Amino acid sequence: MKLTKRWKVAQYFEIRWWRKYLQHKNPEEYLLSKKKYWSSFLGQLSTEIEINEKTKILDVGAGPAGIFILWDKNKIDAIDPLFDKYETHIPHFTKKLYKNVTFYTTPIEGFSTPQKYDLIFCLNAINHFIDVENSLQILAHLLAPEGFLVISVDTHSMLFLRPLFKTLQLDILHPHQFGLNEFLETIKKMEEFKIGEVILSKRGFLFNLHTIVLKKK
Ligand SMILES: C[S@@+](CC[C@H](N)C(=O)[O-])C[C@H]1O[C@@H](n2cnc3c(N)ncnc32)[C@H](O)[C@@H]1O
Repeated sequence: MKLTKRWKVAQYFEIRWWRKYLQHKNPEEYLLSKKKYWSSFLGQLSTEIEINEKTKILDVGAGPAGIFILWDKNKIDAIDPLFDKYETHIPHFTKKLYKNVTFYTTPIEGFSTPQKYDLIFCLNAINHFIDVENSLQILAHLLAPEGFLVISVDTHSMLFLRPLFKTLQLDILHPHQFGLNEFLETIKKMEEFKIGEVILSKRGFLFNLHTIVLKKK
């Protein structure tokens, strides 16, 4: 796994962004509001994704309050290269709050396990990764047959601005810039996934947020 300079810069600013964003937020209230947000996020999916206590879940690019905070019975794995920094610098994130979660402080590109997951979330994270196509291959490999991968990703709403963002690196936190169709094309090239729902989760001025549900063939 080769860490690119562009990715390291993005990660340097990512931890700063979280510190600033959370500095005046009460940890308990924030976690409560984030749980509500994740519940309503799941509610918008119409795909029949059954989650019971045996469902093996992976949260990739989990951040300090990812969707892993929703469940306390399931055995969950969570991956993020900044977990140790979040633990040191952000009172809102404490690993010991989550006894059922195993935290891996690593980029997805360096993660391997014999474990297969029924359900993988990669939310607001894939455009932060080092290598998107390699990450999708790794996620396909980690998913159990018939398992679901739920991705949410920022997509340019004004496509003509995308080349500008890409060339000038205007969006420091996101090394990768996508239009929705371009992202879907990347997925379609892969044999492992069947594309299910594509939901416009949030409409924005420069970026929309799309949620894409993929099923492992
Ligand atoms: C915007 S945050 C999203 C956090 C969380 N999923 C959420 O929606 O609240 C993006 C996260 O992706 C993580 N990240 C960046 N590169 C990564 C990589 N190569 N593998 C896994 N996670 C990565 C960052 O450290 C950051 O915590």
